[in-house]
Amino acid sequence: MQNQDSYSKDESEAYIHDVGYADRERLEILTELYDPASRDFITSQLPDNARSVLEIGCGHGQMAFWFADQVRSRSGAVVAIDESQAQIDVCLQRRDERGIDNIRFIRHDMTSTLDIGEAFDVVYCRFVLAHITNWTTFFENVLSLCKDNGSIVIEEPTTRRFSIPHHPSVPRSVELLERLGERINVKFNCAEPLWTYVQNMDVAIEAAQFTQPALRTPRQKSLIWRSFVQIRDRLREFGLATSPEIEALYRDLRNVAEDDGYLLEGVRILHLHLRKRPPVRN
Ligand SMILES: C[S@@+](CC[C@H](N)C(=O)[O-])C[C@H]1O[C@@H](n2cnc3c(N)ncnc32)[C@H](O)[C@@H]1O
Repeated sequence: MQNQDSYSKDESEAYIHDVGYADRERLEILTELYDPASRDFITSQLPDNARSVLEIGCGHGQMAFWFADQVRSRSGAVVAIDESQAQIDVCLQRRDERGIDNIRFIRHDMTSTLDIGEAFDVVYCRFVLAHITNWTTFFENVLSLCKDNGSIVIEEPTTRRFSIPHHPSVPRSVELLERLGERINVKFNCAEPLWTYVQNMDVAIEAAQFTQPALRTPRQKSLIWRSFVQIRDRLREFGLATSPEIEALYRDLRNVAEDDGYLLEGVRILHLHLRKRPPVRN
């Protein structure tokens, strides 16, 4: 049942972005920008003998496929989970196109308990916790799915994002995103609650690092307006901005993206490597 490629469950309301092919371009840009730092951090942290990897909230699978490549030479395998069938469908198509045989996908909402009868050397998630309201069950799953002394790698954003030179529409769009997050309980500014939360977990904090890319090309900078487009209706719905302001912001963000004179900050990422402590035996 659960350890098949997918199974049915309702998707949560908390995930505010599009899913499936509708969000392909945005997630491609995200991966081009953020994968290098993620790969560097993971490569510097993980033991060479890690063979089994679980990714939670895999999206379109970019990191999951990279992990599958990393562990193939030691006969390792990856399980990747997402709550969205549309995301899993993109992953399955990619897996079949590339003929990758050491990766399996499961559809599951990680805010409800998951038992797939195995524990992993590495449990990984990136850009997921921001969208999770109930961290308690999520982390219970993380701990139960990680082997004793196994690694938990979490990478989440902080939202401060400005431009050089200053353009008021850039911080205003971030402010609106954060205010929307407060209304719908999405923690776009995730580093602080995450750091506080892990202090009370039964883990050792092996490493913590911040990285932040610069958005320079029109494609990289399009991340900002592509994300804004996906929250426009919610901003109107919650009365956080008027339609004319939203349209003006959208136009400005597109102009900033096309204008070579602007350099934007990408989101700052907090990378954490946690090690699960074995139970104390008497
Ligand atoms: C912003 S995307 C990040 C995708 C990928 N981790 C990456 O870094 O490219 C967040 C993903 O988490 C998934 N997600 C959100 N809430 C989830 C939950 N409760 N359980 C499992 N997946 C979830 C979404 O469907 C989405 O695919």
